[in-house]
Amino acid sequence: MYRETYLQIPGPTNIPKPILDALSSKAINHRGEEYASLMDFNIRSLKRVFKTENDILIFPSSGSGGLEASIVNTLSPGDKVVAINMGVFSQRYGLIAQAYDAEVIWIDVKWGEAVKPTQLAGVLESDINHEIKAVLLTHNETATAVKIDMQSLIEAINKVNHPALVFVDAVSSIAISDLPTDKLGIDIVVTGSQKGLMLPGGLAILSVSKRAWEAQRSSEMPKWYWDFKPLQERMRVGQMPYTPVISHFFALKVALELIEEETLEVVFERHKKNASALRSAIKAMGLQLLVKKESERSDAVTAIHLPDNIQYQSLASLLADEFNLIIGGGLQELKGKIFRVGHLGCLHKPEIIAIVSAIEMGLYKLGYDAVIGEAAKAAAHEFLA
Ligand SMILES: Cc1ncc(COP(=O)(O)O)c(C=O)c1O
Repeated sequence: MYRETYLQIPGPTNIPKPILDALSSKAINHRGEEYASLMDFNIRSLKRVFKTENDILIFPSSGSGGLEASIVNTLSPGDKVVAINMGVFSQRYGLIAQAYDAEVIWIDVKWGEAVKPTQLAGVLESDINHEIKAVLLTHNETATAVKIDMQSLIEAINKVNHPALVFVDAVSSIAISDLPTDKLGIDIVVTGSQKGLMLPGGLAILSVSKRAWEAQRSSEMPKWYWDFKPLQERMRVGQMPYTPVISHFFALKVALELIEEETLEVVFERHKKNASALRSAIKAMGLQLLVKKESERSDAVTAIHLPDNIQYQSLASLLADEFNLIIGGGLQELKGKIFRVGHLGCLHKPEIIAIVSAIEMGLYKLGYDAVIGEAAKAAAHEFLA
């Protein structure tokens, strides 16, 4: 019999039915009026979701392309940037800059912890000639399930009066966790379509501040596809310099309508509540979270240590076969040590209860000493609190 899939990897997410339907919209002329008005709606709504008045740019690309675009449009070879190594994705941002010959100053953080404002302030303070051009931050490190305290980090930068541009990888936080772009003065925010926006992968969406545009004018890194300028010019008239993923633009409109209907603040609250209910269940099962500090725990994904004698692959296969529940594994140095459960996108209380119960049953079947029913009970109590 047909079974729904619980795609609980940390993105792509389960795609809600109205968005799936929109993905099968007919192809239209991407240089015509219908496309232009679709683009106009999406841009206006994205500005509200990004909490910005800055320009919105959309590339037909995965999120990583958006990260690359932020670098090559604002920097020149030899420029200094600060990058954080606190997981695969924060590391990736620095590696992209390195690939274009930026000089990367790394801040190494134990995977499972968040970069501290004092660490960042220390690096910037020692840069007395203000040679550092940009700070690369990852709001939600999906690989370790750590969310950084963006406000304190920005305050730390401002306190030492450093003029570096601030770029934020918000691939797994836009429409999940609050990121007040303009209030914090973030120069570039990057997201992808397959996380909080609940589409398949395929769009990289960026907001670009006036200061970032100023940097763009003197940037000497090579670019063609990723060039902001022609994209900005074409988007102003409702087009793109190349063929867009038209179906995604229809689907994006539906996703944004769903978000605005629920309201952004309620979307954030729902993610927070789902995350805390899931974590209560994990703790009730006697499992250990990778992230020790409550304040650093992600609203999008939870990373859990595998119990002794249980292999990731056995758990993942059992959950997939028995319950159609798909979980994620550890990446790089965390491979084989943790499993990750995504709780982002269109997810509500009954699904959380089902997910934690399936994990409990799966672990029990693999010999883990679980008391059946405890997980659902803990999650339900958290929802009722
Ligand atoms: C925080 C973060 N940054 C960047 C990426 C890369 O995005 P993409 O796989 O769409 O290139 C991901 C993907 O999971 C991510 O979670």
